[in-house]
Amino acid sequence: MNAAEKVVCVTGASGYIASWLVKLLLHRGYTVRTTVRDPNDPKKTQHLLSLDGAKERLHLFKAELLDEGCFDSVVEGCQGVFHLATPVIVSATDPQLWYMLSKTLAEEAAWRFAKDNRIDLVVLNPGFVIGPPLQPVLNITSVGSLPHERLVDVRDVAYAHIQAFEIPSANGRYCLVERNVQVLKILKTLNEFYPTLGLQEKCRDQDKSVEYFFRISQEKEKSLGLSFIPWDVSTRETIESLKERGFLIEPGADLHRARGILGTPHLGLDLHGAQSIPSNPSTSATPNPSVTPNPSATPQKCYPWDSCNP
Ligand SMILES: NC(=O)c1ccc[n+]([C@@H]2O[C@H](COP(=O)([O-])OP(=O)(O)OC[C@H]3O[C@@H](n4cnc5c(N)ncnc54)[C@H](OP(=O)(O)O)[C@@H]3O)[C@@H](O)[C@H]2O)c1
Repeated sequence: MNAAEKVVCVTGASGYIASWLVKLLLHRGYTVRTTVRDPNDPKKTQHLLSLDGAKERLHLFKAELLDEGCFDSVVEGCQGVFHLATPVIVSATDPQLWYMLSKTLAEEAAWRFAKDNRIDLVVLNPGFVIGPPLQPVLNITSVGSLPHERLVDVRDVAYAHIQAFEIPSANGRYCLVERNVQVLKILKTLNEFYPTLGLQEKCRDQDKSVEYFFRISQEKEKSLGLSFIPWDVSTRETIESLKERGFLIEPGADLHRARGILGTPHLGLDLHGAQSIPSNPSTSATPNPSVTPNPSATPQKCYPWDSCNP
C-alpha cells in the first residue's frame, strides 16, 4: 500500500510537534484524520486547514482525552495512530515533576495496552523541542523556557514519527536529541548572533549545568535515517520565526504601541536567569505582523521533505 492509500490519525493535531507532523504527512500523500478539542476555534485549526493537501486529505474531529471512547470512531480504519495529545499541568506545585510523572505513567500504560492488544507500538522520546512553530498560538514549552538543553528540532521530531511508522523494523523507544548543550553555550551563541537582545553573559545555573552535562546516544536513531538539524541552526531559526511573527520583541521596540494596538503579549527568554526582554508569558499570544523578519540571518537548508531534496 502506498502513502496515498494510507489513512492515519494524529491526536492533538493543533499542537507544536503535531502541526509539523500533519504538514509532513500531507506532503507525503497520506489522508490524515486529526483530533482537536475545539474544531471551531480558528487559532487551533486554520494553520492546519491551509496546509498543502488539506482540502483533499485532512479531516478534523473533536476529541477530549478525558472523554472515554471519543477517539474510537476517529481511529477506526486507520493504519497508524500518532498520539501527541497531552495536557501540560501548570497549576501543580512543581509542574515539571507532574508533567514527567504523567508522561512516564502514560508510556507504561501504552506499553501494557499494546502488549495486551497486540499493537505494534513505537515510542519516540524527544528532548526539548525547538524550531519554528507552525501554529499561531505558542505552546507551553515555547513560552516557559527557550531554549533549553537536550535540544532537538521540531521538524526532525515530526520526520522521525513518519520514519518510525514507515520503517517496518522500527521498534521500542527512540531518544531524539541532537545535542545536549550547556545553557552557557546557548547563551554565548545567542549573544553572538543576537547582540541586540541584550542578554547577560552569565546565567544563574551555569555551574550546575556543567555538573550534569552528558551525551545521548544516536546509534539506534540512525536506523530511522535521521540526520539531525544542528542545535544552533534550530535555535537561530526559532528566534527568527518568533521575531518574524511578533512573539519576540527586542529591547527598544515600541512595546506600548505593540501591546496597545495589537494586544500582543510577548515572549521573554529565560535562560536560567539570564533575562533581558520584558516578558508576559501567555499561551494565547497572537502574532505581531508589524515586526520585520530578517531572512538573511536564517541559514538555507534542504530538509528531507523539501523539493530540493532528491
Ligand atoms: N515540546 C517538547 O519539548 C516535548 C518534548 C518531549 C515530549 N513532548 C511530547 O510531545 C507531544 C506533543 O507536544 P507539544 O510540545 O507539541 O505539545 P502542545 O503544543 O502543547 O500540543 C499538545 C496538544 O494536546 C492537546 N491536548 C491537551 N490536553 C488535551 C486533552 N485533555 N484532550 C485532548 N487533547 C488535549 C492540545 O490540543 P488542543 O489544541 O485541541 O487544545 C494541544 O494542541 C506531547 O505528548 C509532549 O508530552 C514534547
